[in-house]
Amino acid sequence: MSKISAAITAVGAYVPEYILTNKILESMVDTNDEWITSRTGIKERRILKGEGKGTSYMAIKAAQDLLKKSNTNPEDIELVIVATATPDMQAASTAAYTATHIGAINAFSFDLEAACSGFLFGMSTAAKYIESGRYKNVLLIGADKNSSMINYEDRATCIIFGDGAGAVLFQPNEEGLGLQDEYLRSDGTGREFLQVKSSGSSYPVTAETIAKKENFVFQDGKTVFKNAVFNMADVAGKILKRNNLTNNDITWFAAHQANKRIIDATAKRIDLENEKVMMNIEKYGNTTSATLPLLINDYESQLKKGDTIIFAAFGGGFTWGSIYLKWAYNSQKTN
Ligand code: UT7
Repeated sequence: MSKISAAITAVGAYVPEYILTNKILESMVDTNDEWITSRTGIKERRILKGEGKGTSYMAIKAAQDLLKKSNTNPEDIELVIVATATPDMQAASTAAYTATHIGAINAFSFDLEAACSGFLFGMSTAAKYIESGRYKNVLLIGADKNSSMINYEDRATCIIFGDGAGAVLFQPNEEGLGLQDEYLRSDGTGREFLQVKSSGSSYPVTAETIAKKENFVFQDGKTVFKNAVFNMADVAGKILKRNNLTNNDITWFAAHQANKRIIDATAKRIDLENEKVMMNIEKYGNTTSATLPLLINDYESQLKKGDTIIFAAFGGGFTWGSIYLKWAYNSQKTN
């Protein structure tokens, strides 16, 4: 029997309707379109509005998009993983709520938190269940409502982040397509450079933490930037080397969309041409766990069976890694 590999066989996405443009941000903080565009590549981001709407709202919509497009019966799904840094609430699983609301009544489910590397680590996790031979349909969703933890008076962070969700279905493949290799890392000494200090058990939310604005994202942008470029290039380079891949073998580079300059610098370090670099940061900003599935969704119509995709991500924790995947199908879409 040939080895079972885990392939992505369907994609879906959802972004909220409300568009927060650079122009609008100019009226909120001391910034301008020229600075944001040249320093980050971002033109606009989506924001989820509406009382009581959390990350699951977008996760459900992205999953429903996937189910509809691929004509998948939700009752066939055995596992739902929601990668998110902004769960609906502490204690109650966002994935459980999402799974039930999409009709995945035979599935178990759990949340996975690895900040901006959440979806990448989720790809690794989903693939292991498939490769075990015990599971045939694993739904991986990356979703984040970053606007819930952003201080819209802090120009260092509010210009970067947006809300969104994307979903992929992993299924067994016996043609050798799907996930080929991975190199995943973390380093907890990076925690001080990117965090929401008062959001969990170490500094529970109090009137005092709110007054100090510790319930919002803090980021030392320069340190994160340097670590992101160095580490994403390092792990992607290692993946290429140990799989004997040269840049000619790579069809696409799909990197976490945090800053266009980070992506460009990483691609340059591994010697990749611009045409191979997937980019949609201008439309959505940094959507944390959703950047990679939103990329795949936007590029789906251009992907061909057998395409070699190198994924890379870097985020809070620090967490980072790279995955080498062979695309498993030709898109039906004509656009
Ligand atoms: O998803 C993973 C986690 N996140 C990341 O990977 C993000 C990594 N970091 C970055 O993307 C960049 O560091 C930022 C976009 C956050 C900032 O860009 P930068 O080129 O590192 O700018 P900076 O923080 O060094 O600031 C340069 C100048 C400063 O002014 P002075 O001190 O030179 O006079 C800032 O005060 O730009 C100023 N500045 C702004 N000006 C206009 C900072 N933010 C803004 C702003 N608009 N929004």
